[in-house]
Amino acid sequence: MRLVVAITGASGAIFGIRILEELKKKDIETHLIVSKWGGFTIEQETGFKVAEVEKMASFSHDVNDLSAVIASGSIKTDGMIVAPCSMKTLAGIAIGFADDLITRAADVTIKEKRRLLLMPRETPLSPIHLENMLKLSRLGVIIMPLMPTFYTRPETVDDIINQTVSRALAYFGVETEHARRWKDLF
Ligand SMILES: Cc1cc2nc3c(=O)[nH]c(=O)nc-3n(C[C@H](O)[C@H](O)[C@H](O)COP(=O)(O)O)c2cc1C
Repeated sequence: MRLVVAITGASGAIFGIRILEELKKKDIETHLIVSKWGGFTIEQETGFKVAEVEKMASFSHDVNDLSAVIASGSIKTDGMIVAPCSMKTLAGIAIGFADDLITRAADVTIKEKRRLLLMPRETPLSPIHLENMLKLSRLGVIIMPLMPTFYTRPETVDDIINQTVSRALAYFGVETEHARRWKDLF
């Protein structure tokens, strides 16, 4: 299995990092792209350096390298996750403005009819953000905003992160040990 993972400059870099950690545990091939502001939030919000996060992936690509393998539809992937997804990258994907490797790889994922999952984070959401999400959702893109659940009774921030990540990875058929569903609680 091969997945593209992108980390952009919305708050919540730890979600992208946790996704990489879980995929590494499962020996799934990952192609990581970190935007300039994704790199900033990684270092500002978490204890990780960008270089450490890049080492968690099987392959790491420069966000400006439009000649990278994942810029082409000819390399087969099982899909792409953008976590967290900024409103700027979301807008770029929604209009097909593929000027960096993240928006290009997402564009490829859509055109090749592969699974694309975005984890947007912003509050409050403007009509522009909502329209972009609606447009993408209608194309089959999975819009999974970073919204915690409390019915799982999280005790730590890590519990919240793991629950969200396990739900996201389930869309790709990847089960994590953290998956807790409503029925598991009774
Ligand atoms: C500390 C910090 C937090 C940010 N949080 C958000 C956010 O939660 N959502 C968002 O859409 N943009 C957020 N931004 C703004 C984006 O980083 C900015 O729009 C940037 O151009 C996104 O570029 P990228 O999508 O290429 O990473 C934040 C910026 C900074 C510096």
